[in-house]
Amino acid sequence: MAPLEWLLSSQRDPRGEATPDGLTMVTIDEIAPSLFRLSVYVPEMDMQFNHFLVRDEEPLLFHTGLKSMFPLLREAVATLIEPAALRHIAWSHFESDECGALNEWLQVAPQAQPVCTLVGKIVSVDDFSIRPARGMTAEDLLTTGQYRFRFYPSPHIPHGWDAGVLFEESCRTLFCSDLFHHFGNAPAITSADLVGPTLEAMHKMEQGPLAGYMPYTRRTPGVLHALGQLQPATLAVMHGSSYEGPAAGLLHDLAAAIEESIDRS
Ligand SMILES: [Fe+2]
Ligand SMILES: [Fe+2]
Repeated sequence: MAPLEWLLSSQRDPRGEATPDGLTMVTIDEIAPSLFRLSVYVPEMDMQFNHFLVRDEEPLLFHTGLKSMFPLLREAVATLIEPAALRHIAWSHFESDECGALNEWLQVAPQAQPVCTLVGKIVSVDDFSIRPARGMTAEDLLTTGQYRFRFYPSPHIPHGWDAGVLFEESCRTLFCSDLFHHFGNAPAITSADLVGPTLEAMHKMEQGPLAGYMPYTRRTPGVLHALGQLQPATLAVMHGSSYEGPAAGLLHDLAAAIEESIDRS
């Protein structure tokens, strides 16, 4: 099945019970203390969909996954925590791979609350979700026990008015969604450069029906440089390897890479 057909058919399944062909496995890695990466590789797209679980007194899941992945991911999460114990379900922007299975998770975890940007809460989530979201700004602090999170709004970065990135201050982990997207069934974590593979991926996206993936605006460099000033030690990447090491330079270089990908196309 062609990649686009796969994505559309998996999103059309109204029950969220069918797992698309070939999706039988979730690979789980602890990429930082108490931070687990649950990865589903979709061969038809040559792309990973990564979900992140922070195991703390109040467990937090970043990315719900597509509805069609929910049965698979629920089983994977159950190897780490009791899914009913989830308390916070967060993501960057309103899209099916980010938050499509939100209501399925809210049903299995009665104390869980959606967590997104304030814009996301206002423009989409509170209408879609079976429970209201906590709409965060950079001033708000979310503590889960040992860990402390802030949501930094990043409108249209990677895309979507409501986009934001979550930053955990104790371990300096930036949950950066589609930023640094690259293709392949990549290792869970790397310290190698991510900007080159990201540039290649953006170039490839621009050649197909999903062109326009990552816009570049006058605000793009300023937002990415501000995220670099947070001095992240880990980048939790949604599609591809996560990154371990001083990541400020990568965020500074990413702005130029996004601009270049648009110039090249
Ligand atoms: Fe996205
Ligand atoms: Fe994504």
